[in-house]
Amino acid sequence: MTQSEQKELVASVAIDTLIRQGKIFSGMKIGLGTGSTAYPAVRHLAGRIADGTVKDIKAVVTSFGTQNLCEELDIPVFSMNDKTIGGHLDLAIDGADEVDPLNHVIKGGGAALLREKIVAYNSTQFVIVADSTKIVDSLGTGFALPVEIIGEARVPVVAALNALGAECVLREGVRKCGPVITDNGNQLLDIKWKTPVDPAEMEDKVNGIVGVVENGFFTKNRPIVFTIDKEGNVIER
Ligand code: 5RP
Repeated sequence: MTQSEQKELVASVAIDTLIRQGKIFSGMKIGLGTGSTAYPAVRHLAGRIADGTVKDIKAVVTSFGTQNLCEELDIPVFSMNDKTIGGHLDLAIDGADEVDPLNHVIKGGGAALLREKIVAYNSTQFVIVADSTKIVDSLGTGFALPVEIIGEARVPVVAALNALGAECVLREGVRKCGPVITDNGNQLLDIKWKTPVDPAEMEDKVNGIVGVVENGFFTKNRPIVFTIDKEGNVIER
């Protein structure tokens, strides 16, 4: 199975399983993630809405990309701050860049980590859909941790991250000169350690640096993870 076939499979099985388990239900408030695994999940959910399996779904999106997809698929989108949402969701579903054995996660490869974390940390249930390449033994040395920063604070933030043992690279735009600008108007550093770090400790330490807006370690609302095992079956862990 190719990686993109895995993404399609895990996304559709996760949505159907969550409906069967009653975790996706009519009238619910759902956070929708960003990326090439989250989008098939959004498409599959739209199919279940269209065939009447679930009704009156209220979505909060995590990026302009997901907003556009929901517009295309006729999924009603609300702000986290709307009275009907009230700042809390029933479930958030999203992809990941890396998942460790404790289901701690790195996210932000698609530069949407800030709104992804707002949604994930304000949901009763957080769900990750991930192809098998995302499952790792430890975080911090493989996929670089995305850190959203205020551009004006780049130099002192890099110095503070270096002091935590991390090497930093400013994420550059593709077909756009200069740095990537996030949906929130900020810049991104991709940072890596030489040896594995404690993600729960580092999530707080990195966020404690003045000028850091958010980082891509997600350790505080432990997700259910749907992924693919060696035999090509979808598993939930
Ligand atoms: C976007 C994310 C994505 O969920 C993460 O990068 C995984 O992306 P993909 O499913 O395309 O591999 O965190 O900010």
